Amino acid sequence: MRKKLVVGNWKMNGSLARNEALVAELRKLLRPDGVDVVVCPPFVYLSQVKALIKDAIIAVGAQSLSSAKEGAYTGEVSGSMLADLGCSWVIVGHSERRSGYGETNVVVATKVQAALDSGVRPILCVGETLEQRDAGVAEEVVGSQVDAVVSALGVEAASFVVLAYEPVWAIGTGKTATPEQAQAMHAFIRDRLVRSGVSAQGVKILYGGSVTAVNASLLFSKPDIDGALVGGASLVAEGFSAICAAA
Ligand code: 13P
Repeated sequence: MRKKLVVGNWKMNGSLARNEALVAELRKLLRPDGVDVVVCPPFVYLSQVKALIKDAIIAVGAQSLSSAKEGAYTGEVSGSMLADLGCSWVIVGHSERRSGYGETNVVVATKVQAALDSGVRPILCVGETLEQRDAGVAEEVVGSQVDAVVSALGVEAASFVVLAYEPVWAIGTGKTATPEQAQAMHAFIRDRLVRSGVSAQGVKILYGGSVTAVNASLLFSKPDIDGALVGGASLVAEGFSAICAAA
């Protein structure tokens, strides 16, 4: 049995005051029995959020990292810096990074490797655009995003990666993939990993894209959906804790 994992991607939202209020509410509302919970604030707030969480069973993650170890990379943050702050997770290859910051499959693979090298668990995002789905190439696109990381890392290391299937057309649009659409792609991803030689039965595959307290339980009822990567709904404590409770 794979334990469910719910990850809140705060994206570029928050402030010292808003984070304090949100974490205080989460500490009250979250009952993380049977589910692992992670919140991913912007880099600058990682230490603050880590300190606010105190004894609550919520882990802290970052939203990206550099592929380099250290040195002259202005504006970048390394995996070892994240580990230094007690940050145990990092999102890699989010579609907003792929489309807005030139993160190709090759760049994403080097970042996943950099995270593993620093002892930070990567959450690798994959997903197709609406045009790609309509053109019937969704599996081809997602398959090549998965393959790029498996071939760069090797099958041993790849089994430590958590995947997040986030169809680009479902992100921030209120248009969730149906549980059947999501399950079909998750099963495809797991099968692709198995065919590459990864022992994938233990690999978690999260769904992301307009997950709310309303649609979470149906998504979580599917055999290959092991949790969620939540954007907008992770900024509201009631909604996020209800999603965690549904897991
Ligand atoms: P929304 O939940 O706001 O659609 O965002 C999903 C996402 O991009 C999480 O990484």
